[in-house]
Parts: sequence; C-alpha cells; structure tokens
Amino acid sequence: MSTVVRLPAGSRLRRPPQPTSAPRLALLGTGTVGSAFVARCDALRRRGVAVPPFAWLANSRAVAAGDDAPAALRRLRGAAPQQAPLPPWAEREGLRRGDIVVDATASDLVAGWHSEWLLRGIHVVTANKLAAGADLVRAQAITHAARDGGACHGDSATVGAGLPLLRAVRALVAGGDRIRSVEGVLSGSLAWLFAHHDGSRPFSALVRTARDGGLTEPDPRVDLSGEDVRRKLLILARAAGLPLEARDVAVESLLPPALVAAAGDAVDAALDALDAPMQARLSAARAAAASLHVVGSFGDDGANVALRLLPAGHVLAAGAGTDNRVAVHSCRYDERPLFVQGPGAGAGVTAAALLDDVLAIAGGAALRASA
Ligand SMILES: NC(=O)c1ccc[n+]([C@@H]2O[C@H](COP(=O)([O-])OP(=O)(O)OC[C@H]3O[C@@H](n4cnc5c(N)ncnc54)[C@H](OP(=O)(O)O)[C@@H]3O)[C@@H](O)[C@H]2O)c1
Repeated sequence: MSTVVRLPAGSRLRRPPQPTSAPRLALLGTGTVGSAFVARCDALRRRGVAVPPFAWLANSRAVAAGDDAPAALRRLRGAAPQQAPLPPWAEREGLRRGDIVVDATASDLVAGWHSEWLLRGIHVVTANKLAAGADLVRAQAITHAARDGGACHGDSATVGAGLPLLRAVRALVAGGDRIRSVEGVLSGSLAWLFAHHDGSRPFSALVRTARDGGLTEPDPRVDLSGEDVRRKLLILARAAGLPLEARDVAVESLLPPALVAAAGDAVDAALDALDAPMQARLSAARAAAASLHVVGSFGDDGANVALRLLPAGHVLAAGAGTDNRVAVHSCRYDERPLFVQGPGAGAGVTAAALLDDVLAIAGGAALRASA
C-alpha cells in the first residue's frame, strides 16, 4: 500500500508563482565590470547564444532603455552627475517576476535591495560583495528571500571572479562534507600588486596602474585595507555553513594613517604614503628569502587576513599575475587540500562570471517553461 504524504495547505499557498514571460536583464553599474558585461553579452549574442534581452541599464546618474545596450551604455557613461545616487530605479522601471537584475556596482544602497527583489521573484546576479559579504543579517535575509521568492542569487563573480571555488565549497557541503578551513590568496588585485613589487617602481605607482587598469576596487583602499578579502572570506565561510560576522575576521590593514584619513579627491596623492612602509616590507622579505602575499583564512583557529612572508616553493606563493590560490581542507580532503588557482580579478573574467550565472538562470527558466 502506498502512502500519500499531504503537504500542509500553507506550504502549497506559499509556493511562488512561476514567471509568465521570458527573463529580461536589468544592469546596474556601467563602470569597468558593467561595460565588460555589455560587451560580452553582445559578443555571445553574435555567436548565437540566447542571452536574455536588456530591459534597461542604469548607473548612479541615469537610466536608459535596453533595446540597443551598447548605445545605451555610451549614453549613460556620458550622463551628467546627479546631486545624489538615483533612488530605487527598479520601482520605476517595472521589473517583473523572472527578470534578472545584474548588480555591477559597489553600492551598499543597491546591495540592500537584493532581498527585496528576490522576495518578489526577481533573480539577482552580482559582482557586489556588499550583499552576502557584509552584515550577517543581510546575508541571511538574501538566503531566505531567495527561497521564499523562488528566485536565484548568483554570486559567482564575488569570490575569485568566477573561479570554481565558491561552487566547490557549496558542492562539498551539499555532499555531506565539512569544511575545516579555507586559506589562500583571495585578492587578485593584491596578488598583482605584490607580484610586481620588486622595488623598481614605487608601490603607489603600481596601485595607480592597477586601479587604472580596472584591477582594484573603485576605491583601492578597499583592497589595501584588507576589507575586500574580509568580504570574500565571509561569503566563503557562510557558504561553508559558518555564520561569521565581519568582526570575527581579524584584518591587518596596509593603509598608513594619511591614506585612511584622505578625502575622496585626495586619495590619489595620499597613495605615496604607502611607498616607505611597503619598501621596508619588501626588504624584510628579501632578507628572509621569502615573498609577500596577502593571505586570508578561516577555520577552527579563527579567521584573519594578513600580509605574510611565504618561502619560495610554498603552495600559496605559486602562480602569477592576478592569480588566486586557495586551499580547502575538509573531512573529505583531509590529507591534502583541494586546491583552486587561476586569474581572480579583472573586468573580463568578472563579466564572464556574471554572464555564467545569468545563462544558468535563464537556462533553468527555459527548462521549466518546456517541462
Ligand atoms: N574589477 C574587478 O576586477 C572586479 C572583480 C570582482 C568583482 N568586482 C566588483 O564589481 C563591482 C563593480 O566594480 P567596477 O570596477 O566596475 O566599479 P566602477 O567602475 O566604479 O563602476 C561602478 C558602477 O556602479 C554605478 N553605481 C553606483 N551607485 C549606483 C546606484 N545607486 N545605482 C546604479 N548604479 C550605481 C556607478 O555609477 P556612476 O558611473 O554614475 O558612478 C558605476 O557605473 C564592485 O562591486 C567590485 O567589487 C570587480
């Protein structure tokens, strides 16, 4: 005799309705990453890939319809400044259930909207770490809203710019594994800076080159303070099932006081204050026959971010350029860690990670529609 398990009436009522139309994209942020995202969408469409159409694009100054996204992007990039960032565009622009918001901003205001959209069945794909990598309450609200709204929060671009690290951690946990620790070079920008820091150019000049090449955060102090690595550690730890708060991660900042205190338009000049302390760190590393790396870790011994001297041949000192290098120790991988290495910064790989998430969501929607 078979048993029929009846769902309580409430859970049937709570099941989110399915979208009735094909997903559209709404892009927030037309800077380094947002522009690369539009270019990649355009390139893949020309190769016949079914990329959802843009409904609209926006930056902090203006909103434009998305029929011709590259032209809209050009107009938005030239838009006049506003007194204050735009208010919630989404409300005005009529997002519908099943649409996909792409957050290519570094805005706390935008990050605060993710759970609201998800609850309404609007998917969110993000490069912005202030969503799941800031307050634990916000990260948990995002998880709950995605579940209750039947929407996806695509965050592949937030850690390792799409390297298969975050998804490996999630897959291990889903398979019953326990993550014991994660340790590694998680900032592609800092990896690039220290790979090029050989004393031939002042450290400040390297920071300017990295910033102008779109490798750093819009404000490079977010990288140099260790804050960017802290956010990535929080995202990874939460994905591993550890509900860490920002204060649980001890962070060694590389910022001298003059750079901490600098107002927005004085940051560039204040970068020079990095040169003497970074030269001293380089000399100490050379004296110890080691190299400098900013390493972040969490595990049973706590969580921290620090500039470390690693001896030649150390596994975390391998690679080059913007490479992230991360070791995951778990019950399954207890003798030797799972190791992920590859380019972890830059507009191209970040935009590709955003589009991976978009296509996975749109592919899922198409599958559901044909079922
Ligand atoms: N670059 C990388 O390698 C990399 C890698 C991984 C993740 N990320 C992340 O990607 C995000 C974007 O980085 P980026 O380098 O592209 O920054 P960016 O060049 O400074 O661009 C940021 C964009 O966000 C827009 N914006 C700010 N507030 C907004 C608001 N309230 N509404 C709508 N748009 C708003 C800005 O508008 P305006 O143009 O009007 O100022 C700008 O277009 C960041 O969260 C960063 O952490 C970057």
